[in-house]
Amino acid sequence: MSVKIREIDHEDLNFMLKIENDKSNWKYGINKSELSFEDALNYVKQSKLMILNNDNQRFVIEYNNIKAGLIDLYDYQFQNSFAKVGIIVLKKFRGKGVGDKSLKLLLEFCKNYLNINYLESEIEKSNQSSINLFVNNNFKNISGNKYVHQAI
Ligand SMILES: CC(C)(COP(=O)(O)OP(=O)(O)OC[C@H]1O[C@@H](n2cnc3c(N)ncnc32)[C@H](O)[C@@H]1OP(=O)(O)O)[C@@H](O)C(=O)NCCC(=O)NCCS
Repeated sequence: MSVKIREIDHEDLNFMLKIENDKSNWKYGINKSELSFEDALNYVKQSKLMILNNDNQRFVIEYNNIKAGLIDLYDYQFQNSFAKVGIIVLKKFRGKGVGDKSLKLLLEFCKNYLNINYLESEIEKSNQSSINLFVNNNFKNISGNKYVHQAI
């Protein structure tokens, strides 16, 4: 199995729009309203500036070279070495370790290249697969639906 995360690009616009405009994904917090083609284009442009010049950065998850989901950093705070993380894996790729590997890759990237040492995820109590994913990767529940990871 090969899982990688890579910077989002213009060729991913339709893929991103399909995920973001699927209303069943809105409850997971990546996006909560209809995204236009222009909005998506702006995300790609901003992502290309990298998070250090911006406050978010998106990555496409690939499973055996097929687009399988999105993982992103947002609400970046340079001074606090902090960002929030969101992830979505397409249904047909779930339960194979794709989410786990992607999150591990993102954590390494944050620590080694972005100097982000604190990551936070907001997870609904009912979202057991997401809780498992983040807790398995050393995120700790600090209050309500907030889970925090500190790089060591
Ligand atoms: C959460 C999500 C990203 C997990 O992706 P995935 O590729 O299926 O995850 P993995 O296969 O790496 O599994 C990670 C953990 O979740 C568990 N898991 C996966 N699917 C599950 C399910 N349907 N029910 C319960 N646990 C599940 C796995 O068992 C594993 O935990 P374990 O190692 O303790 O067994 C995916 O389910 C998803 O996209 N959900 C919708 C979006 C979402 O909830 N995003 C997170 C919001 S913060």
